[in-house]
Amino acid sequence: MEAKRSLLAIFLLLSFLSISTATSTRKTRTRNPCKSMVFYFHDIIYNGHNAKNATSAIVGSPQWGNKTILTGKNHFGDLVVFDDPITLDNNLHSKPVGRAQGFYIYDKKDIFTAWLGFSFVFNSTQNKGSINFAGADPLMNQTRDISVIGGTGDFLMARGVATLMTDAFEGEVYFRLRTDINLYECW
Ligand SMILES: *[C@@H]1O[C@H](CO)[C@@H](O)[C@H](O)[C@H]1NC(C)=O
Ligand SMILES: *[C@@H]1O[C@H](CO)[C@@H](O)[C@H](O)[C@H]1NC(C)=O
Ligand SMILES: *[C@@H]1O[C@H](CO)[C@@H](O)[C@H](O)[C@H]1NC(C)=O
Ligand SMILES: *[C@@H]1O[C@H](CO)[C@@H](O)[C@H](O)[C@H]1NC(C)=O
Repeated sequence: MEAKRSLLAIFLLLSFLSISTATSTRKTRTRNPCKSMVFYFHDIIYNGHNAKNATSAIVGSPQWGNKTILTGKNHFGDLVVFDDPITLDNNLHSKPVGRAQGFYIYDKKDIFTAWLGFSFVFNSTQNKGSINFAGADPLMNQTRDISVIGGTGDFLMARGVATLMTDAFEGEVYFRLRTDINLYECW
């Protein structure tokens, strides 16, 4: 009887320990990213005169707008598709390390905000694979967090957060985003 009771006590202690280690592992993983990276990407918006250099184009606009110039009312309803060069520094003319490919939708009439869905696609000697992003981008905020929802190749099963900062903005023709990626799940 006594032996049985102490066995039970040991069992309970062990299960308590394993639960608390599981909880603390989880907390540690949330606090410390397993991988951090910084990239810049450059968007040159087609404006009727720059077809050769443009890396993005309005492909949808509301009835009251058109596909040459972003619509008034904070561009509400415009859908833009992009294929932008990614660089390691903030120079548009640096050698690209990959492409940022996807779309953004301006989705609020009374404030300048967008929704982003895109991938970083890498096919270089350094990196092969992709990182996939999605989320709301309230453009007036200095920093915006969007989700890293997955990845392939070197970034298989990537999960985390990307913090976006508008690093340059030139007359609705060019903008540059700094992207600080923190992965909390790495393969
Ligand atoms: C295209 O880019 C080149 C190099 O940056 C620049 O010299 C040229 O003015 C640009 N052309 C247009 C139409 O924006
Ligand atoms: C598109 O809309 C802008 C702004 O309303 C206007 O200035 C421009 O002439 C329009 N372009 C075309 C091709 O309709
Ligand atoms: C990646 O680059 C290699 C070598 O340049 C090329 O053979 C391959 O088709 C590329 N893959 C993709 C998916 O673009
Ligand atoms: C954006 O900025 C506003 C005002 O500074 C703040 O109230 C809001 O929480 C911010 N939103 C995000 C998503 O960071």
